[in-house]
Amino acid sequence: MFVLAAVGIVLTAAAAQEALVETPDVLPAGLGRDETFYVCTACHGSAIVRQQGMTRESWEQTIDLMIQRQQMAPLEAPLRALIADYLAANFPPRRRAPANPFAP
Ligand code: HEC
Repeated sequence: MFVLAAVGIVLTAAAAQEALVETPDVLPAGLGRDETFYVCTACHGSAIVRQQGMTRESWEQTIDLMIQRQQMAPLEAPLRALIADYLAANFPPRRRAPANPFAP
């Protein structure tokens, strides 16, 4: 009985772990997607990246922030440019919602 319970706990833990595993296809297809995925999800999930919408300049600042505050290893210039281009192209600033046509 104890053994069955223990196996159950291990299996549940394995299933929970599985759910957290992400693959590059959580990000939109495009040049630099895989590089961005592997560099930017080393410490946190992709959602924290996907939920942002920023200019390229702000993405550059985010990369700097990750390096200065979060101990991310600095990136070689070409890789950094590839990732910044990818982020800016796929997660640009969001447009504001259209004005309410019923507003007085
Ligand atoms: C060395 C670890 C590490 C790497 C690599 C990393 N981050 Fe982070 N990042 C963090 C930590 C730690 C936080 C803040 C804590 C949290 O919420 O998880 C964070 C937070 C963020 C945030 C939330 C906003 C903020 O200012 O806190 C964004 C956006 C972000 N990261 C984007 C990126 C992008 C884009 C990359 C790839 C270029 C990246 N991160 C790579 C560690 C990392």
